[in-house]
Amino acid sequence: MKYLSILTSLVGVALGARPFLDVADTGLEDYLVGSGNWTEGTLPSLQDMRALPDFEFSAKQVLADEDWAFYRLAAGQEWGYRNNFDVWGKVQLRPRFMTNVVNLQDNIGIELFGYNFSAPFFIAPAAQAGYAHPRGELNLAEAAGDENLLYNAALFATKTIEEIDEVKRGDTWNGRQVIFQQIYTNNNLSITWNDLDRAKKTGAGAIVLTIDTPGNSVRVRGARYSGQDYWEIFDEVRSRTDLPIILKGIATVQDALEAVERGADGIYISNHGGRQLEFSPSPIEVAYEIYRNAPEIFQKVPVLADSGVRTGSDVLKLLALGVKAVGLGRPFMFANVYGYEGIIKAIRLLKNEIIQDGWNLGIGSLEDLEPSFLNLNTLAQNVNLLDN
Ligand SMILES: Cc1cc2nc3c(=O)[nH]c(=O)nc-3n(C[C@H](O)[C@H](O)[C@H](O)COP(=O)(O)O)c2cc1C
Repeated sequence: MKYLSILTSLVGVALGARPFLDVADTGLEDYLVGSGNWTEGTLPSLQDMRALPDFEFSAKQVLADEDWAFYRLAAGQEWGYRNNFDVWGKVQLRPRFMTNVVNLQDNIGIELFGYNFSAPFFIAPAAQAGYAHPRGELNLAEAAGDENLLYNAALFATKTIEEIDEVKRGDTWNGRQVIFQQIYTNNNLSITWNDLDRAKKTGAGAIVLTIDTPGNSVRVRGARYSGQDYWEIFDEVRSRTDLPIILKGIATVQDALEAVERGADGIYISNHGGRQLEFSPSPIEVAYEIYRNAPEIFQKVPVLADSGVRTGSDVLKLLALGVKAVGLGRPFMFANVYGYEGIIKAIRLLKNEIIQDGWNLGIGSLEDLEPSFLNLNTLAQNVNLLDN
């Protein structure tokens, strides 16, 4: 018996020992090499970008090593980063056929705090878009505006809040494009209050307060002197602005419950793309933990999520658990090596995947999505239950 179980586990290890592909193999490299008119280290044609991972390949060709490292890096030995991708394989889809799917292409829009967007995904806040393109965040804002997509601008951007404001589109947005502004609290809180004022003055639709980085040395120092915990800082930020506040970096059902109880207007599940705390959970694991312990949260406030989302099916899986909108960080940073056109292409590719996969899944609208479209048995083996 003992030998049998050792043998079984060895076979399991052998079967599971698939090398992790840093950039998903979409066939792009084979195609480019075979075409005979592409040289390594040069930018492939935008036309050859057929899925979001392709942009990562392109960015790696042309970015300076240091800038590439900043976009791509992750914490520790990168288990959390890899898990953000590997986890999708633990959740199978359960397609339903003979359903009415004809109108899905007109029904992938969402509403957040009264603002309508054309798709259930958004550009997550990522610092230093200028490494990929001299126009940096301006490309992201403009492409989001033209595609009627939510752009969540990062505080640590290469362009200022005001510069980004200047390029906002006006056509389809009741006169003015609405973006959400991400902030970190500063050790010197007067800087934070100033950031909030600037966001308000430039018409931000919501504040996204990132809470998953207390390990940042500046904040650890600050915390030591002020003795404030993050919930107290949240209460202060709350009292300083009338804009909706979304807390970014929620990784447990406990924090999700506390955030809602303390009056957060939205919560944002994220492990920062695996960049912050090694072994922190992926968004689908956290969304499932919330679904099992406190499913009412998805009704009470909009739940956003990011980290490791690359395909239409990744988006649909999170939405089926009750997530309202899904963010992507690196893919848009990488697409920016093509400038505005690259961002537009990335947005359209993902919209198309959501529609195609949604049709094949058997939904006619995002409203049709529910957990029964997912096989969650594997995640269930590992979920934390509050009453245990
Ligand atoms: C280059 C880079 C810079 C980032 N900077 C910030 C930041 O300033 N503030 C923040 O809240 N999140 C930041 N993030 C995290 C993103 O908002 C997002 O959580 C993450 O990128 C999602 O994972 P993904 O890259 O796998 O899509 C950054 C991510 C990247 C890749």
